[in-house]
Amino acid sequence: MYTQAMDIPNTDGPTAVPAINEQAREAEFNERAGRGEIVEAKDWMPEAYRKTLVRQISQHAHSEIVGMLPEGNWVTRAPSLKRKTILLAKIQDEGGHGLYLYAAAETLGTSRDQMLDALHTGKAKYSSIFNYPTLTWADIGVIGWLVDGAAIMNQVPLCRCSYGPYARAMVRICKEESFHQRQGFDLLLALSKGSEAQRAMMQDAVNRWWWPVLMMFGPHDKDSQNSELSMKWGIKRISNDELRQQFVDATMPQGELLGVTFPDPDLRYNEARGHYDFGAIDWSEFWNVVNGHGPCNKERLQARVDAWEEGAWVREAALAHARKQAARVAAAAA
Ligand SMILES: [Fe+2]
Ligand SMILES: [Fe+2]
Repeated sequence: MYTQAMDIPNTDGPTAVPAINEQAREAEFNERAGRGEIVEAKDWMPEAYRKTLVRQISQHAHSEIVGMLPEGNWVTRAPSLKRKTILLAKIQDEGGHGLYLYAAAETLGTSRDQMLDALHTGKAKYSSIFNYPTLTWADIGVIGWLVDGAAIMNQVPLCRCSYGPYARAMVRICKEESFHQRQGFDLLLALSKGSEAQRAMMQDAVNRWWWPVLMMFGPHDKDSQNSELSMKWGIKRISNDELRQQFVDATMPQGELLGVTFPDPDLRYNEARGHYDFGAIDWSEFWNVVNGHGPCNKERLQARVDAWEEGAWVREAALAHARKQAARVAAAAA
């Protein structure tokens, strides 16, 4: 647990402790966070640390919520009752992940309304992977297997991140993500034992999703300035390139089991390195999608804005109900 230094009075305002040199305070914070001490909501933290976390956690929350859309598209068309209930449970989990994460971000002093406004006005980002369409039922399997699989690689180290409320939310999220990955793989395993057309549908989905999934780990370490600071603060524990390599290494034997290939002629096991080599990522596609020009960016954002506007009456009713309850409690106390 990270607690304030003994010589720093526990106070709400930074101006109340003029005796402590701000730089020294920050250096001490960095040192503690870097060595794995946990920072809690009421602990002193540098403004840049707070901002980085709000950006990362809210972006993560938005990704969970927007990520419900491509899969929601298939609820009515799932091929059996069993697959429909699995898919519904999975999508519902994602909604829950969004809620834990908004709550974690709120502990840093940003309101949910502010975060949602940033999403709806296009100021905040969410994971670009959700700007790709789900064209066939096999896409639902590939999302679980590869997209949730990549998310797990990214998120397991976050269970040890320096900010307590975020780390604790991630523990539960990761448990659920592993169910998501397995349901996707299970769906594909069924397709792999199916007809020629089903196997072709699976292969086509892998071909379309493979490269966008590799991009989910973010730019190469040498091009990622945010990463360095996040590593120093113990928010991030493993670099983008390392995580991407771990993901490729873990995925190859699973692909073999499914009987699929990957759309990369350079993908092969490198005995000397003890890892799979893979080809160059087309970062122009990544930035194009990040900057709003992916196949579904407009549609996804519009769906979120519509849901927010159509849900206004629910929020108003909930507030009116809460006011009524509070008035009743107050009247009873009087
Ligand atoms: Fe999730
Ligand atoms: Fe998930």
